[in-house]
Amino acid sequence: MATINENYLKLKAGYLFPEIARRVKAFAEANPNAPIIKLGIGDVTEPLPEACRTAMIKAVEDMGDRSKFKGYGPEQGYLWLREKIASDDFQARGCDISAGEIFISDGSKCDCGNILDIFGKDNTIAVTDPVYPVYVDTNVMAGHTGDANDKGEYEGLVYLPISADNNFTAEIPAQKVDIIYLCFPNNPTGATATKEHLQAWVNYAKEHGSIILFDAAYEAYITDPSLPHSIYEIEGAKDCAIEFRSFSKNAGFTGTRCAFTVVPQNLTVKASDGTEVKLWQLWNRRQSTKFNGVSYIVQRGAEAVYSEAGKAQIKELVGFYLENAQIICEQLTAAGISVYGGKNAPYVWVKTPQGLSSWDFFDKLLQLTNVVGTPGSGFGAAGEGYFRISAFNSRENVEEAMKRITEKFKV
Ligand code: MLT
Repeated sequence: MATINENYLKLKAGYLFPEIARRVKAFAEANPNAPIIKLGIGDVTEPLPEACRTAMIKAVEDMGDRSKFKGYGPEQGYLWLREKIASDDFQARGCDISAGEIFISDGSKCDCGNILDIFGKDNTIAVTDPVYPVYVDTNVMAGHTGDANDKGEYEGLVYLPISADNNFTAEIPAQKVDIIYLCFPNNPTGATATKEHLQAWVNYAKEHGSIILFDAAYEAYITDPSLPHSIYEIEGAKDCAIEFRSFSKNAGFTGTRCAFTVVPQNLTVKASDGTEVKLWQLWNRRQSTKFNGVSYIVQRGAEAVYSEAGKAQIKELVGFYLENAQIICEQLTAAGISVYGGKNAPYVWVKTPQGLSSWDFFDKLLQLTNVVGTPGSGFGAAGEGYFRISAFNSRENVEEAMKRITEKFKV
């Protein structure tokens, strides 16, 4: 008789965003004329940059030309894309990262989950609370946790609380943890990390032989020049960190799908027999066995992100969403609602007004204003009493949503 991976039974009923979509669908069916505005999931709304579209159209033409046609590509991604990433995203910032250390993929979410394939079962895993739920759920699926308690905290995970008191940056734990997930600019709080903060984590990781899984999917939103874009700007990070990057939020590739993961060549972990094993080798083996690469057409689109025109268009696109975030912050603050983030990130982390719980505010907001956001408690127990508003929408929708919210919830 077949058996199942019973770890899935430990998961809360639904992944956060499908649960929100389910509630919104039910509301829309009951109120077909409600002018719903979605500021929930961080999904982009503006068209793909022209430079990316043009490159992809040309790549489609290549596929119709026998001399340029491409079948399976290299599992790690085409070298011409990896070389651009290495030079423009890393070497230009003084990071010693080469094309050989970059793996092109179809998404950071997938990579954040898949990376667990190369780690052992008995690592102590630390996540912040609140946190991007993918880090937690994929560890549950992999059997790295026990059951969840009433607050939704899984036995075996180390939760590092983040709040306004610590600027939404986790304190270095007193205990030893083996794997640490860090996300900056942060999803969901929009917080950022200074070089000093990341240096403290790198020092901790090196001292304890830990690995930092650094999610930098939102790095393009950093406007403060003193803030690091990559963990590899921090001394010693190549010895202890893997970094995840994405074209989703900078170039609007959420539907197009392209991302990459950096695994330094000399990053090692000790096997049980004491030999040092390169994580690069394991990840390369994993990817070449379970993944056939991202399509040639999409990789050509991603390559155009690094052209002069692409860079200018992306700057404009990111600037547009950042202006949305600024409007959200200003309007809510003027209405007496406390907000965090939104300056170097496309997310605004809002203290729920009237002392409402996160889900109660979600329901009330949907009913009274037809605006959708994301309940903070969906990101972890410490997110209770908070709410995430995404800046990914048209200017018109953001302004209209803020008008409706401030009218109904002015403090
Ligand atoms: C979010 O809303 O948190 C993001 O859309 C998550 C993601 O990019 O997977």
